[in-house]
Amino acid sequence: KITPVLMAGGSGTRLWPVSRKSFPKQFTPLLDNGSLFQASVQRLSGPDYSGLTVMTNADFRFIVAEQLEQIGVNSATVMIEPVSRNTAPAILAATLAVVDRDPEGLVIVAPSDHVIPDAEAFTRAVREGARLAREGRIVVFGIPPDRPETGYGYLELAETGDGPQPLQRFVEKPAPEQAEQMCADGRHLWNAGIFLFRAKDMIEAFRIHAPEYLVPVQAALDHGQTDLGFLRLASAPWEGLPDQSIDYAVMEKARNLSVLRLGCHWADLGGWDAVWREDLRHTPDENGVVADSNSTAIDCRNLLLRSDGDIQVVGIGLNDMMVVATSDAVLVAGMDRAQEVRRAVGALSAGN
Ligand code: GDD
Ligand code: MG
Repeated sequence: KITPVLMAGGSGTRLWPVSRKSFPKQFTPLLDNGSLFQASVQRLSGPDYSGLTVMTNADFRFIVAEQLEQIGVNSATVMIEPVSRNTAPAILAATLAVVDRDPEGLVIVAPSDHVIPDAEAFTRAVREGARLAREGRIVVFGIPPDRPETGYGYLELAETGDGPQPLQRFVEKPAPEQAEQMCADGRHLWNAGIFLFRAKDMIEAFRIHAPEYLVPVQAALDHGQTDLGFLRLASAPWEGLPDQSIDYAVMEKARNLSVLRLGCHWADLGGWDAVWREDLRHTPDENGVVADSNSTAIDCRNLLLRSDGDIQVVGIGLNDMMVVATSDAVLVAGMDRAQEVRRAVGALSAGN
């Protein structure tokens, strides 16, 4: 069985004002009734999996517990990172806990802000990945790009072709021109941020490429405390850790990496443009307008109009824009500026 490790500690600033520091995007119902986090948990339950671990921070622990309870999951391990140090140490902590039980144990790490509608295709990809992982490969899932997205990381392959392949290079959030070129050359896939490996192989990869993490993360586990059912990692060793994503700390350097195509639709709801695009897939509109029940669009094109509070919002003659209202904040931005919404959060000192 595979141990699923869900990353749910991000703050989702590009989805302001719905996503707030105290209640980030992965926990809000952006598309359907449930949250992205709940959908991610459900995607990683079933006969292939056991021992769900959720990595998050103290601010979100009760949201995590409540949302797990809502979907009837009551046996998960919820590990609390004392401060956010990005995904590298969080993944190592979860993996060290698995190694303790079973060094050969398989682990799948996944973010909690994804949309993957085809559950069966996802399961098929995971099973193929598991086969490779049992042979000692660290499997990274990739998606063939269909647009020059600048909000994702790109996996550069050594060769073209459909089978599993070694990774040549990793490029995080490229500039538009570089994204354009990578999208066109057939040698790049989007990094889905989903990894599958044997616990001992990931530890070994850290030992070779990022050894500075091992002692502090192990200490944070050893001195961690169980508190109201959560496993709280010890802060002293954790605070000194470098703030780095797994992509840079390990994946870019590891030699035993295999890139596997996911083979189904996938999206990261990282910004409002992504929410708009996914909503349109769901309920196509010939003018590219997505408006919720509190919103009215008149003579508009390529518009996201959304009111998550009680406010009625009306747009007239708007093109290529996003308007997102909540009870205490409104975002109005060009559709092509979705990645910059995080600047709003930086600019506002209060209210988040
Ligand atoms: N536990 C924990 N702790 N989770 C974290 C932390 C942390 O310190 N930081 C981020 N996360 C979680 C987020 O909640 C999210 O589920 C996931 O890790 C990825 O973080 P994002 O902030 O959403 O990253 P991104 O979308 O900008 O980029 C990453 O994902 C893309 C695909 O979804 C990169 O890996 C890109 O290369 C990749 O294309
Ligand atoms: Mg993301």
